Amino acid sequence: MQKSTAIANSNIAIIKYWGKRDERLILPTNNSISFTMDEQLSTTTTVEFDSALKQDEAILDGKIADEKEYERVSNFLNVVRARAKIKLFAKVVSNNTFPKAAGLASSASGFAALAAAASKAVGLDYSMKDISILARLGSGSATRSVYGGAVEWQKGSASDGNDSYAVQLSPASNWKHLRNIIAIVDAEKKKVSSRAGMAETVKTSKRFSSRLEAVGKRLEIVRSAIKDNNFESMADIIMEDSDDMHACMADTIPPIVYMDETSNKIKKAVRALNESEKIAAYTFDAGPNANIYTTNPNEVKSMLKEINGIKKIIECKIGEGIRFSEKHLFY
Ligand code: PMV
Repeated sequence: MQKSTAIANSNIAIIKYWGKRDERLILPTNNSISFTMDEQLSTTTTVEFDSALKQDEAILDGKIADEKEYERVSNFLNVVRARAKIKLFAKVVSNNTFPKAAGLASSASGFAALAAAASKAVGLDYSMKDISILARLGSGSATRSVYGGAVEWQKGSASDGNDSYAVQLSPASNWKHLRNIIAIVDAEKKKVSSRAGMAETVKTSKRFSSRLEAVGKRLEIVRSAIKDNNFESMADIIMEDSDDMHACMADTIPPIVYMDETSNKIKKAVRALNESEKIAAYTFDAGPNANIYTTNPNEVKSMLKEINGIKKIIECKIGEGIRFSEKHLFY
């Protein structure tokens, strides 16, 4: 069977996904919106289904996948096999441009690249929409990495998940002036996985239902700001949604706290920076690292230099969606 290689970039949400209505099919409780990042946060994956293999093989960043990683990859390949009606095992080789241990989400780019490469390798003639639906079964945030620029994951309402996929709101070329300045505060793996954490929030947080109501209004404002190419008019909403998600995490029993003292200092400094002109918006995922979207990267970077506890700063542009390559990672 043919070998296939796909490249996908990570994405950072500005209206967050935190909560599922279906755990198995990874169907979210609300729509989310993100920007796709540039090649600095990308995954390249080569897949080949091969009758000579006795089991799946997975090599991630040059190392044989550990038990947990192997299980996630192999379970995902089971879905691809079922769709293609084949029984062959596959070899998967995957490289990230960023260290997995940097505390950056690698599941979005990882499962988007795997969905694209595996579906092509097995001979499924998938559209980007089909790839988005397939990527969702690996990791929710991967649904959005299929497209570049600003992307919305529509939660859908069908019980089989076939209307829960991403659409592009605005191409990367409209966002040449925007950057995400990522401040790495902690490079450790997160203690509570997003999968486990959000399930507990849905079950126990009293605040969660009011979040769902508020998100509807925020989505409207952000969609219209994206249409107008106007970062300033969504900066406050981006921060509000991140704060709201972390408040729901803290309201979970037992409380989940991902942010630390340095994260909170960064929040305060971004607010101060915006006092004269709205140039930046912070957003935090399930970890303490800050993502600061900004139209003035130099000011944000000099502000960050004054804060202790930041290990590394990455300046990302808004990037493109999935692409295929003839340069395979093994032959
Ligand atoms: O799909 P996961 O497990 O990568 O969940 C991602 C959840 C957040 O990163 C916290 C928010 C989001 O919308 O990406």
